[in-house]
Amino acid sequence: MDRQVTYADLNLSRGPCLESSSPPSLPQDICQGPPWHQLALKLGCTGVILLTLTVIGLSISVIFLRQNLSIEESSVDVQENRNETTEKPDLLKCPKDWRLLREKCLFFSLASNTWNYSLADCSTKESSLLLFQDPEELRHVQSLIPKKEFLFWIGLNLTLSEKKWKWINGSFLNPNVLRIVGYNKKNSCVYVSPTGIFSEDCDTDNKWICQKELQPVRNKACSGS
Ligand SMILES: *[C@@H]1O[C@H](CO)[C@@H](O)[C@H](O)[C@H]1NC(C)=O
Ligand SMILES: *[C@@H]1O[C@H](CO)[C@@H](O)[C@H](O)[C@H]1NC(C)=O
Ligand SMILES: *[C@@H]1O[C@H](CO)[C@@H](O)[C@H](O)[C@H]1NC(C)=O
Ligand SMILES: *[C@@H]1O[C@H](CO)[C@@H](O)[C@H](O)[C@H]1NC(C)=O
Repeated sequence: MDRQVTYADLNLSRGPCLESSSPPSLPQDICQGPPWHQLALKLGCTGVILLTLTVIGLSISVIFLRQNLSIEESSVDVQENRNETTEKPDLLKCPKDWRLLREKCLFFSLASNTWNYSLADCSTKESSLLLFQDPEELRHVQSLIPKKEFLFWIGLNLTLSEKKWKWINGSFLNPNVLRIVGYNKKNSCVYVSPTGIFSEDCDTDNKWICQKELQPVRNKACSGS
C-alpha cells in the first residue's frame, strides 16, 4: 500500500517538474511564427532577456551590498577587539621575568638567601613573598618549579610569642588548608618545593618567590563621574 502511494506521488510530482524544466527552451519555440508576430515576439523576448539580466544584476548588487555590510560589521568587531586587546595587556601583563599565575605575577629568584633577605628583596620589587590562597594554588606553583632540589621561601614564618604560623599579611595559617612539614621551633620560616611545604631555620639560604597581585584597573570612564 505504502509503496503504491509513494509511486503515485512521484508520478504526480514529476509531471510539473518536467514542465517547469522546459522554459529555457521556450523562447526558441515561441520566437518563431508570422513576421510581424515574430518581431513582436522578438521584442518580447528581448524584454524578457533584459528583465532577466536586470534581475541577475540586482541580485549581484544585493549580494555585493551584503558582503560590504558584513565587511563593515567585521571591521567594527575588529575595532572592538582591538579596544579590548589594547586594554587587556595592561591588566594581565606581568613585568619581564615574572610569570602569570591566575591573578598573580610571580617572580622566582635565581639567587639564594635568608628569609629576611627574601622578604626585603620582594618589597624592593614592590611585591611581597608568596602567599598561598589554597592548595590548588600551591600545586600550580609547584608545577612551575623546574627542579626538585629548588626550595623557595614563601611569606610564612613562626611568630615568636604564640609559636604559630603567620602569613606576612598578618593572618594566621589555617592548618586545614596547608600542612607544614617540619618543626615549629623558634626562628622557623617556610619554603615550598615540588614535593611539599616545609619549615626550616630562617637563616638558611633558599631561593624565594615574590608575588604581585594583578588588580583590575578601574576604568574611570566607566564609573560615570
Ligand atoms: C573603546 O574604549 C573606550 C574607552 O574604554 C570606549 O569609550 C569606547 O567606546 C570603546 N570603543 C569601542 C568600539 O568599543
Ligand atoms: C629578620 O628581621 C627582623 C627585623 O627586621 C628581626 O627582628 C629578625 O630577627 C630577623 N630574622 C633573622 C633570622 O635574622
Ligand atoms: C592573608 O593571606 C592568606 C593566604 O593567602 C589568606 O588566607 C588570608 O585571607 C589573608 N589575610 C588577609 C587579611 O588578607
Ligand atoms: C616573621 O615575619 C615577620 C613579618 O611578617 C617579621 O616581623 C618577623 O621578624 C619574622 N620572624 C623571623 C624570626 O624572622
